[in-house]
Amino acid sequence: MTRAYNFSAGPATLPEAVLRQAQAEMLEWHGAGASIVELSHRGPEFLQVAQEAEADLRALMSIPDDYAVLFLQGGATSQQALIPLNFAAPGQKADYVLTGHWGKTAIKQAKPYVDVNVAASSEADGYRDVPERGAWRLSDDAAYVHITANETIHGVEFRDIPDVGDVPLVADFSSSIVSEPLDVSKFGVIYAGAQKNLGPVGVSVAIIRRDLLERAGQPRADIFTYASHASKESMLNTPPTWNWYLAGLVFKWMRAQGGVEAFAASNQRKSALLYDVIDGSGGFYRNEVAAGARSRMNVPFFLKDEALDKPFLAEAKAAGLISLKGHRALGGMRASIYNAMPEAGVEALAGFMRDFQQRNG
Ligand SMILES: Cc1ncc(COP(=O)(O)O)c(C=O)c1O
Repeated sequence: MTRAYNFSAGPATLPEAVLRQAQAEMLEWHGAGASIVELSHRGPEFLQVAQEAEADLRALMSIPDDYAVLFLQGGATSQQALIPLNFAAPGQKADYVLTGHWGKTAIKQAKPYVDVNVAASSEADGYRDVPERGAWRLSDDAAYVHITANETIHGVEFRDIPDVGDVPLVADFSSSIVSEPLDVSKFGVIYAGAQKNLGPVGVSVAIIRRDLLERAGQPRADIFTYASHASKESMLNTPPTWNWYLAGLVFKWMRAQGGVEAFAASNQRKSALLYDVIDGSGGFYRNEVAAGARSRMNVPFFLKDEALDKPFLAEAKAAGLISLKGHRALGGMRASIYNAMPEAGVEALAGFMRDFQQRNG
């Protein structure tokens, strides 16, 4: 068996140790006589898994007690619709700061429910920077301010938490959650699909300041109500038990590796190595994002000659480096280097890039 270094943006590479543990526990979980995925979500076995996963995520992210932690179905996109439904009155204003493709999706999901005010946008410049806070035009009476902490396709990341006063800050952290220490108390809501830094696709995490759960929001079914999920500890209906279990294994693995502090340091080294190769290539490779907004998780780059894209991808694959093709919206290449990507994988990619340039530059 040969596992390649997998730079997929999501679903993304998982820690090998986690996959091996899941494999070992697949047929029978801890003497239960069945796999965890075959047991009731209300039984003692899965309840233990669920509670430990929440406790481990709380410990990893230092989540204050006045925040609910929910494990939900529907992906990050569903959260983008549930947020206006739960936290804004019908037609109320909500401010959105647009820094890439996923911010656009968030706006699209919100538009049926709220009066979206695009408070700032980098769209006209091709999403290459985060608009300066001073230039944002926030509404006086917004229900919340929404940002995309890390734009997975455009490779643009907020490096500071913006101050939006008393209005709750809602942030899509799908592609950068648990990549570094974060002051959760600065946010009203943090949400993330799991399939980048937390585990497998099929479960999303929503971290919600509890006072917001009391907002009336809009007419909606119980199943679309965060407060109902919170009151039932994410077991309002059958939760995605396998995905939740795997995410729990990832949390334990992260804690054993030294937690978010350790990953922050290695994520910094990994991304700096790739940006150094790109910037030092004399234009053979290029990344167009402003230096202060470059993502540590997703590094998009272009080759100086598009005709080299195909050979680059083919030779990278032959060298055991896969899933480097950029998103169709942007073209070029993209290296997604989440927590589970070992430094050795990024070193191998950097070496390959230098070598490819030497042979084709
Ligand atoms: C930042 C961000 N937000 C939202 C999404 C959409 O997530 P999902 O496909 O889980 O709905 C993605 C998916 O890649 C993403 O990267």
